[in-house]
Amino acid sequence: MIKAPRGTRDLLPPDTALWNFAESAVRDVMRAYNFQEIRTPIFESTELFARGVGEDTDIVSKEMFTWEDRGRAESDKGQSLTLRPENTAGTVRAYIEHKLWDRGLNKLFYIGPQFRRERPQKGRYRQFYQIGAEVIGPASAGSESPARDAEVLEMLATLLDRLRISGWTLELNSVGCAHDRAAFNQALRKALEPVVGSMCADCQRRAITNPLRVFDCKVPADQPIIETLPRISQFLDEPCRTHFEAVKEILIKVGVPFTLNDRLVRGLDYYTRTAFEFTHGALGAQNAILGGGRYDGLSEALGGPAAPGIGFAIGEDRLVMSLQESASAESVLKRPDVYVAALGAGMNSEAARLARELRRHDIVADLGDETFRLKKSFEAATKAGAKYILIVGENEVKADTFALKNLATGEQISVPRADLPQKVLPQKVQE
Ligand code: HAM
Repeated sequence: MIKAPRGTRDLLPPDTALWNFAESAVRDVMRAYNFQEIRTPIFESTELFARGVGEDTDIVSKEMFTWEDRGRAESDKGQSLTLRPENTAGTVRAYIEHKLWDRGLNKLFYIGPQFRRERPQKGRYRQFYQIGAEVIGPASAGSESPARDAEVLEMLATLLDRLRISGWTLELNSVGCAHDRAAFNQALRKALEPVVGSMCADCQRRAITNPLRVFDCKVPADQPIIETLPRISQFLDEPCRTHFEAVKEILIKVGVPFTLNDRLVRGLDYYTRTAFEFTHGALGAQNAILGGGRYDGLSEALGGPAAPGIGFAIGEDRLVMSLQESASAESVLKRPDVYVAALGAGMNSEAARLARELRRHDIVADLGDETFRLKKSFEAATKAGAKYILIVGENEVKADTFALKNLATGEQISVPRADLPQKVLPQKVQE
């Protein structure tokens, strides 16, 4: 038997209804905040992620699905391509490639699969889905303003509340900018020097290449050492400090609760200033439901103009897991309103006609088969979770009046054809 590759999975009904529910709530909220959708390619040139996300990150150094193109055209040959591990670099590439600033497109969102070769476990997959958004533009358009950071965070709080996901925590930090990073890196290297020998091989490498990445370490034995290291928050320069204060002040004013976490540096190199994660207790070890932050130098690192930006990506797999925990999940699952049961030879066409009439009224109708006996039709209707079964037999067709049975209460009534939509779904038909 051929199975789905490790770390990938099929999303099946009824869960897909939850995915659609989450995505449609996201689209509504994005609309309210004036974000528009962007769809970038599933694969990009490897260099985009090396330069954007950073060579020393776990994502780029260990987790990418990369291959060399075997195209026949000379221009394709040997080009290194990578399945996108995240969507910020691709969005910023598109922003530069299409000069989106000229079109005033500065608030973009995306929904789609991402790929990382991680060790699969609950809430961690090799193909996973992100719902993300980016606010990017020239500084003259206000994209550097702490008001943007606060707006994005407030939008996320609104979205989670609208999805009735309770019990989340917003963890907030500022990771400074290129200006204060140099002093921090120096202090970090100095503090690491006497202790790094007893840390894991990854940390020993990071201490030389990119000491900030030491904070990504998950090795339990290294944690007590990491606890003693200096924090970026102690090194913020005046503009970064003021920016962070302003973000916090707006969040307090608009009533979005947060917790400061000065260990939070995020696993991608492009971050500057505000960095954040929303965690959720019910998720277990992989408890980050979403992450994001500011990336004021990313556009320039990718060869574009100065374009400060801030964004986030929600792990949709984890979002749906949180929805499953909440009581509202059941109400989202779609069941047919009516099961139209053709009973007896020659009834298929009549049943099809009735189903067509009902569906025109937005009624969700499932259709049986004339070869089914009454018992089998009832079984099929119950299995489909239908509210009603509609019996289409020879006598009913002659009288143009049909037996409609409520499968939950057992109540059965006789309904003339014209009244059927109203009886099956009173609210929808009145609308
Ligand atoms: P990230 O923290 O790498 O950030 O990923 C964001 C979210 O994607 C995580 O919080 C998690 O919920 C989900 N996620 C990541 N890896 C996996 C996985 N293997 N399986 C399931 N879910 C996963 C970014 O990707 C940035 N691009 C976010 C961003 C946008 N920053 C600024 N703009």
